[in-house]
Amino acid sequence: MKTKAAVLWEVNTPWSVEEIELDPPRAGEVLVKIAASGMCHSDEHLLTGDLPFALPIIGGHEGAGVVQEVGEGVSWLAPGDHVVFGFIPSCGRCVSCSTGHQNLCDLGALMGLGRQIDGTARHHAKGQDLGLMCMLGTFAHHTVVNEASCIKIDKDVPLDRACLLGCGVVTGWGSAVYAAEVSPGDTVAVVGVGGIGANAIQGAKLAGAKRVIAIDPVEFKREKAMEFGATHTFSSMEEALPGIQELTWGTMANKVIMTMGVGSGEVIGQAMALASKRGRVVVTNIHPALEYSASMSLLDLTLMEKQLVGSLFGSGNPRADIPKLIGLYREGQLDLDGLVTNEYALEGVNDGYDAMRAGTNIRGVLKYD
Ligand SMILES: NC(=O)c1ccc[n+]([C@@H]2O[C@H](COP(=O)([O-])OP(=O)(O)OC[C@H]3O[C@@H](n4cnc5c(N)ncnc54)[C@H](O)[C@@H]3O)[C@@H](O)[C@H]2O)c1
Ligand SMILES: [Zn+2]
Ligand SMILES: [Zn+2]
Repeated sequence: MKTKAAVLWEVNTPWSVEEIELDPPRAGEVLVKIAASGMCHSDEHLLTGDLPFALPIIGGHEGAGVVQEVGEGVSWLAPGDHVVFGFIPSCGRCVSCSTGHQNLCDLGALMGLGRQIDGTARHHAKGQDLGLMCMLGTFAHHTVVNEASCIKIDKDVPLDRACLLGCGVVTGWGSAVYAAEVSPGDTVAVVGVGGIGANAIQGAKLAGAKRVIAIDPVEFKREKAMEFGATHTFSSMEEALPGIQELTWGTMANKVIMTMGVGSGEVIGQAMALASKRGRVVVTNIHPALEYSASMSLLDLTLMEKQLVGSLFGSGNPRADIPKLIGLYREGQLDLDGLVTNEYALEGVNDGYDAMRAGTNIRGVLKYD
């Protein structure tokens, strides 16, 4: 069939919205009519080359839609089912999946190639095979993905909000709840208030943090942070250092969650300085693939028993966490509506990323008919 998708042909060029050719699903695969896709910063890393994925590639990994057709052997999904895509597939059988770490499923190793699990492509344009961001390609009206990427959800959940659970919400919320293990009474600092940071704030608040300190250079972001549950804001880590010293009588933040647009090894030391004795710094933001060094006081690391940990997909289990967070949304304990600043048609994908670069949105969402 023919459908439309936003393709990146070369780094540092705009997304090109064009007609593509889509093959039917093969065994274990599913054809989905996508309803909406969030625009996460990780797709921007494809464009800048910070994440060196094979090109050409269809962008987008934060999507939800309606199943149209299932391939051979897909017994648990049927046409008409509503699904959110997990940005990392979960096979349910590998060591990570079977020990409660679906975010680290072995199938994730195939993501850089952007093909189907069998190594072939269903998406084509101009006589070439197209890759898929996170094996999904949600900047498109339709896609074919593996069943391992699908999480079935109730049909009454609005798909233009549910899509955000495919990456940003679970990633941010889980960075606070699972990776940082925020406890009641903690002081938590969140560095960077985009789609990920806003959800880290929500997670920290729900986990019982006493103070949630949001740090972002953009005033609009700091205002939004207060709406999501932040108690204090600062415009930089430099400004936050004396501020957190004063607020905590020098004991500093129990947890620091890094959710900047692009990570930088040079600021890891500043983040560690915001952390308390035995404090934990969670690095959720993505660093350029070729960054190999970080600067920090290693004496401080040892003498204060500080912890520096990475976190992928909120260190959670998409098959359990996506339905759980839908439940929190239903009960009014998780704000999904407030995350969406602007909505666009697929053709607006470059406008959406302009807004992200300008710092005027929390999340832009592409909505398809
Ligand atoms: N680990 C994961 O599983 C995972 C998943 C999704 C996204 N990510 C990454 O998380 C990061 C954030 O993504 P997003 O979609 O929220 O991005 P975003 O662009 O929406 O938000 C980033 C925010 O960081 C702020 N910022 C930039 N420099 C800063 C600084 N020096 N100090 C404080 N704030 C600063 C920006 O003003 C912006 O508000 C990206 O690197 C993205 O690739 C990681
Ligand atoms: Zn993402
Ligand atoms: Zn697995």
